[in-house]
Amino acid sequence: SDPALVERARAAKAALGDKVFVLGHHYQRDEVIQFADVTGDSFKLARKAAARPEAPYVVFCGVHFMAESADILTAPHQQVILPDLAAGCSMADMATFDQVEECWEVLEDAGVADDVVPVTYMNSSADIKAFVGRHGGVVCTSSNAKRALEWAYAKGSKVLFLPDQHLGRNTAVLQMGFSLDDCVVYSPHRREGGLTPRQLQDAKMILWRGHCSVHGRFTRESVDEVRERVPGVNVLVHPECRHEVVTAADRIGSTEYIIKTIEAAEPGSAWAVGTELNLVRRLANAHPDKNVMFLDKTVCYCSTMNRIDLPHLVLSLESLARGEVENVISVDEETAHYARVALDQMLALP
Ligand code: 13P
Ligand code: SF4
Repeated sequence: SDPALVERARAAKAALGDKVFVLGHHYQRDEVIQFADVTGDSFKLARKAAARPEAPYVVFCGVHFMAESADILTAPHQQVILPDLAAGCSMADMATFDQVEECWEVLEDAGVADDVVPVTYMNSSADIKAFVGRHGGVVCTSSNAKRALEWAYAKGSKVLFLPDQHLGRNTAVLQMGFSLDDCVVYSPHRREGGLTPRQLQDAKMILWRGHCSVHGRFTRESVDEVRERVPGVNVLVHPECRHEVVTAADRIGSTEYIIKTIEAAEPGSAWAVGTELNLVRRLANAHPDKNVMFLDKTVCYCSTMNRIDLPHLVLSLESLARGEVENVISVDEETAHYARVALDQMLALP
């Protein structure tokens, strides 16, 4: 990265001192993550968002839904800044509030809504989290999906899982003992979600038809190919990958889990990692004594995570140092209230 920009970021951050708290998700670029006070997976960043109540500015290096959650979890006098407002998430965009309301009506018409507890993945907009909070549900991340789904299933007798069908299916089948037949997929673009009332009555897990386009690129063939090419390789993937990929892998977990697993691995061991490329490259560079490689042959970054680059971070920090606050993420009070109910429920899970 450009040394002049690195110097500008350093100078602006130093000038701001304790007034700024920088959070960075593990998928951020190296040039950006070096300026983070705390790095983490989505769960850790949600837990740490409120760790510096004395800082008026929280700069969030990640994507929009994470910055919204940080705004909900921080104190009212703190402002959350997203260095590029176009840093969204294609998965989060796959469930809109209107679609979820319509889905709930379908569940009501099928006579099952009273049995359903909704669970939303962190990767969803604040109004979806608020919907879930209003209906007695919970937010989850990839590191606590099992606990959240077990909590919800114990409370109702069916779960509506939004918006990542893969995390929902992988957790239900591989960690909770459900069968594939216990899961149905609700398609927001089809009439009645593409399901009959009978299917909804029989299902235990109603999975929203959403997915991550980055993790969706890993296939069963990528796993078979690397196993053939690198004898003894360990395949380590994120649970947003498709079911056929996750069932063929050796280890599955969140970005924080992936990092800890590589850190603890034996020198000389080989690891094919199925997650975003910035993280895999960083792990490979940090562990030259281990053979860390990307699971697929073609590269895949998360294009929206990558929108937060050093020029955007510099602009944010320099404008804050001048007292100008731009790119603020602010969730309206009522939405924030109910979204917080669902987020607090996650933070309170045993
Ligand atoms: P985690 O960092 O919680 O594993 O999530 C990955 C992700 O896709 C965030 O968008
Ligand atoms: Fe969204 Fe996938 Fe990018 Fe995560 S990696 S922010 S789920 S598009």
